[in-house]
Amino acid sequence: LEIFGKDRRNSKGLDLTDIVDVEPLMDDLAKYQDKVWKAAPIIGGKDQVGMGQPATNPAMRLDVLGEVQEATQEQVLLATELAVEAYPDWDFIGGEARARYLEDAADALEDRYNEFMALLVREAGKTLSDAIAEVREAIDFLRYYAAQARAEFTDPIRMPGPTGEKNLYKLHGRGVFVCISPWNFPLAIFMGQVAAALAAGNAVLAKPAEQTPIVAYEAVKLLHKAGIPGDVLHLLPGTGETVGATLTSSEKIAGVAMTGSTDTAKIISRVLAYREGPIIPFIAETGGQNAMFVDSTALPEQVVDDVVRSAFHSAGQRCSALRILYIQDNIADTVIEMIKGAMDEMALGDPAKLTTDIGPVIDDEAKQGLLAHAHAMSDAGKLLHKVKPGPECSNGDFVGLYMFEISGANDLQKEQFGPILHVVRYKTRDLKRHLDELKATGYGLTIGVHSRIEGMADYIYANSLAGNTYVNRDQIGAVVGVQPFGGKGLSGTGPKAGGPLYMHRFAGERVLTINT
Ligand code: NAD
Ligand code: ALA
Repeated sequence: LEIFGKDRRNSKGLDLTDIVDVEPLMDDLAKYQDKVWKAAPIIGGKDQVGMGQPATNPAMRLDVLGEVQEATQEQVLLATELAVEAYPDWDFIGGEARARYLEDAADALEDRYNEFMALLVREAGKTLSDAIAEVREAIDFLRYYAAQARAEFTDPIRMPGPTGEKNLYKLHGRGVFVCISPWNFPLAIFMGQVAAALAAGNAVLAKPAEQTPIVAYEAVKLLHKAGIPGDVLHLLPGTGETVGATLTSSEKIAGVAMTGSTDTAKIISRVLAYREGPIIPFIAETGGQNAMFVDSTALPEQVVDDVVRSAFHSAGQRCSALRILYIQDNIADTVIEMIKGAMDEMALGDPAKLTTDIGPVIDDEAKQGLLAHAHAMSDAGKLLHKVKPGPECSNGDFVGLYMFEISGANDLQKEQFGPILHVVRYKTRDLKRHLDELKATGYGLTIGVHSRIEGMADYIYANSLAGNTYVNRDQIGAVVGVQPFGGKGLSGTGPKAGGPLYMHRFAGERVLTINT
């Protein structure tokens, strides 16, 4: 594999322990606290005017942060027509020109770091540390795919051989790509999909999650300002059932990249299979049933820190988050008691505060689903510990923190996308059985190992499906270009985001043969 972009740098982000970063950040957060944003369809570079619905802050539902207007069917069709027409010129300007636009966008995002953080806090309930990581990841995606466009999509490759002709091999965009993103990384994943599709030479129809269209609207405005032509990139806010379904059933599209739940990926897969038109690639990045194995040689303090970060930070709303913690039986009581203590120390509340560890979940529907699971598990007598949200959480969608004891992965039906941890005490002789049960769930996203035994990590790596394995650390926060991220089986089709093969799935190959 080519390691391109050797000069590429990851964004340094902000440091919440450094007053030089924190003071201007807090000033800016205060400045944007009452700002009223908006999201509207952007077609051909122009906002479409119409009636909107209020958008509210998940941490404080009385806080109306903007107005959101969904795309109509006619607007989706118009954007598709414009994108079809715009694609060839965009493809033929080549990787170098496209890289420059994306790098300008990355620089512009660095300049507006605090503003995007403020928006992520208010629209998606992100804590400050999560918002920092998210803006950084979005910048990294822009620079990474720009570097790849420059390296692999600029000049054709001469293919020497016995024919005596001039054979030129070149990567191109495929046409019009549909990018469908989730609410839990409304900037980073939105930007990652769009940047890869654009960098490869595609025109893009972007549909953000219905819960978080405002950050996507600002991101598209930023990309247009950086030079991406309006006819090449269109924003179509709306629900999956309306805008999403119209986009994926179009015969004019050349590919779909979607990140979200496994159920949605299956629905889209069926739509693509039965619609009229060409057979096209589908990139799906979906959910996980992620585990961590902790044996008696692990360092308990480090384990507890990494468990808490992996299971509860981001309110457990990461596809990579820890759902099932396996602890070797002879240390289980000690580690469980330590986790309880750490859970009690977590500050739940307003994500805009420096002191907050855990913010809200995304909406009432998510909250009710998580609470239903927690009640069912509690009624079955499996509760080990819970932390209730305090009065400061009463106006938002907070669920608290939960830890349950289960006997194995088979006790769980599906991914619980929130701050709920399940613990299994295991005996060494049952390790293989537990790994087999995990594999049988069909998910393969992340897995964690805490052990000082040589060979243990290799054993777990070899006996799991996980796309990303983390040893003696937490299991969230993959870094673009360094830890390419994504799973297999029910967790997604691959290729890995932020890895060398991702952009290739957005590309088609062409060969020009000239008899000289
Ligand atoms: P979701 O499946 O509800 O929605 C994801 C996107 O799909 C949204 O934009 C939604 O509007 C759209 N959609 C829904 N139905 C559609 C349809 N019929 N046709 C077209 N589009 C449709 O997921 P979510 O709740 O937004 O996100 C959480 C899920 O995403 C979790 O399962 C999480 O594990 C997963 N996720 C995976 C990754 C990864 O990289 N593997 C990253 C983040 C989130
Ligand atoms: N890429 C994100 C993580 O690693 C989902 O946590």
